[in-house]
Amino acid sequence: MARTSRFPGFYKITVAERRALVSDATGTEVLEMERALEAGGLDAETADKFVENVLGTYGLPYGVALNVRVNGHDYVVPMVVEEPSVVAAASNAAKMVRAGGGFTAECDPPLMISQIQLCDVADVTNAKEAIVAATAEILALANESIPGLVSRGGGARRWEIRQLGGPRDRMLVAHVLVDCQDAMGANLVNTVAEAVAPLLAELADARAGLRILSNLCDQRCVRVSCRVPADALATDEMSGIEVVNGVVNASRFAELDPYRAATHNKGIMNGIDAVVIATGNDWRAVEAGAHAFAARSGAYKPLSVWRRDGDVLVGELEVPLAVGTVGGTLRVHPAARLSLRMLGSPRATELAAIAAATGLASNLAALRALATVGIQRGHMALHARGVAVAAGATAQEVERVATMIVEARDITVEGARQAIVLVRVL
Ligand code: MEV
Repeated sequence: MARTSRFPGFYKITVAERRALVSDATGTEVLEMERALEAGGLDAETADKFVENVLGTYGLPYGVALNVRVNGHDYVVPMVVEEPSVVAAASNAAKMVRAGGGFTAECDPPLMISQIQLCDVADVTNAKEAIVAATAEILALANESIPGLVSRGGGARRWEIRQLGGPRDRMLVAHVLVDCQDAMGANLVNTVAEAVAPLLAELADARAGLRILSNLCDQRCVRVSCRVPADALATDEMSGIEVVNGVVNASRFAELDPYRAATHNKGIMNGIDAVVIATGNDWRAVEAGAHAFAARSGAYKPLSVWRRDGDVLVGELEVPLAVGTVGGTLRVHPAARLSLRMLGSPRATELAAIAAATGLASNLAALRALATVGIQRGHMALHARGVAVAAGATAQEVERVATMIVEARDITVEGARQAIVLVRVL
């Protein structure tokens, strides 16, 4: 965690000045930041050890969300994302949430599900009874396969069994629930599945099918909430209460319409994914889990809901989040390690809370913009900076060129080139 995450005017200063401020607030060395973040922190030779057929690496912007306060602690939150305005929007919304005391989060224990499919089951009832009778043996076998995790306090906790399809399918699936402590857990859980499958197949008089984790890790959820005073949400054109009503209306739209829910959830994942990537975690796993969870009732629903409580806007988000802070190849990535240090070397559950809070902040920013001026005004202003850079504006010229092309309603590279010429002669 950080000493503070409030840095007024942060966007106006240089990259070097930002690094110095973040270093001071988080205790992370500037030199470490320089090493980890120059050219993405990964050379082609190291990348070649991560994946196959490597030709090089692919850089993405690394920014920080400010103003984020979760359970009374301040965090400077690393975000890796290519989309303009996501970092600024999350920081902005986090500031409004801060006015109401910040985010409150609570996390389930880090339980992952190891799935063992049992096919051609001779007799489903007998199979279930045999597995129940062998509970201790199954859990012991699971734990023998992951001694390192057990010595760190984790391990197989319990199991459950589900029948799939009808009697003619003769299919069961066993879930072994493994407490992964600070690991994301995919390798651990896959090891467990392969270790216990022969015993389960024998007990069930069945054939073992697939043995793999489930990314619908619904026993590893995080719940984040916030209470934002209406005053903090007011815009030049709309009162705070009008904005509260607008956000609640946007929430209802998503609750009633899966087409809108998908976009609503995309706005949440803008924040979550950016933190997940910055900390070296598997964002595909997180995405798969989030969307499967959103559809768990049979209809696709928003992951967050917003309501009015007097003159306060109340937001709640629940999402499964399999993120780790130890293990995994990406944890040897210098930028991922830097991110974790910047966050105060959190436990996995704390990281999940931070990522989810950033997701709820992103969601609030999007809904507030949509309920007021619309999304394009802010987007265009930031997009214009990218266009100005593409047209050749220097760091000193970018802001002026961007403002000029926005005002001229000509956010094109050609428009920016003309603006650069004007800036240079004026
Ligand atoms: C864009 O990346 C995300 C939004 O579409 C989210 C939303 O509509 O809630 C703005």
